[in-house]
Amino acid sequence: MERFTAQLRTQASMGELRRLLAAVVASPALHARFVNTLSRMEYIGVRKMLKARHADNLDEEGLLHMIEEASHAMRLKRAAIQLNGGQQEGVRTYSEQDTLSGPAGERYMQGVDRGCEALLADCGLEGPARSDANYLLSTTAIEIRAEAFYPMYEECLKAAGAPFSVKSILKDELRHLAEMGESMSAIFPSTWSELIGRAVEIETECFEQWLRAMQTAVQTSHANAGA
Ligand SMILES: [Fe+2]
Ligand SMILES: [Fe+2]
Repeated sequence: MERFTAQLRTQASMGELRRLLAAVVASPALHARFVNTLSRMEYIGVRKMLKARHADNLDEEGLLHMIEEASHAMRLKRAAIQLNGGQQEGVRTYSEQDTLSGPAGERYMQGVDRGCEALLADCGLEGPARSDANYLLSTTAIEIRAEAFYPMYEECLKAAGAPFSVKSILKDELRHLAEMGESMSAIFPSTWSELIGRAVEIETECFEQWLRAMQTAVQTSHANAGA
């Protein structure tokens, strides 16, 4: 799994992400809406799990994963409110005006999900087993990105003296990724590595589209502030 994370860290788009994060963190108003977008993405992850997991396959680890993702959404929402001067107004909901390109976050999650669904079209699994396999593969790809994203974001937060940290979220994501990797190799003993490699390619496309949307949102907000 480290191989995939290392691969992502060297992508040119991660350099662009660093510049984006520096620009976002420098402005509390932008930053509040950005963190609210991250919160929305964590929430979409929970919603997807609730829909995808079948009771016949759901164990304690599966339940804990949902609770921890919901807790990430809550912690990031509270960080957004804190950055917003303690005011809910402006970051109360996950609507477009309360987030920084919130719909792009939705498109990222849906894009990875649909792409992984297509990858598993001929995997030989059906029904709840197929739905669970899609949960595993799409979550693995997203957790690999999280493992590259959150350490970089944490560095930016520290450098700017931000009033919160994402260290504890990263710690959960690292454990989730290890669990996903184990389950993937158990369900797909001979093809897990190839499947994850292809899922990472799909995720990278979705991530780059998300990044473009965030860059545009930051530029628009700077232009409006200067107007
Ligand atoms: Fe999370
Ligand atoms: Fe996670």
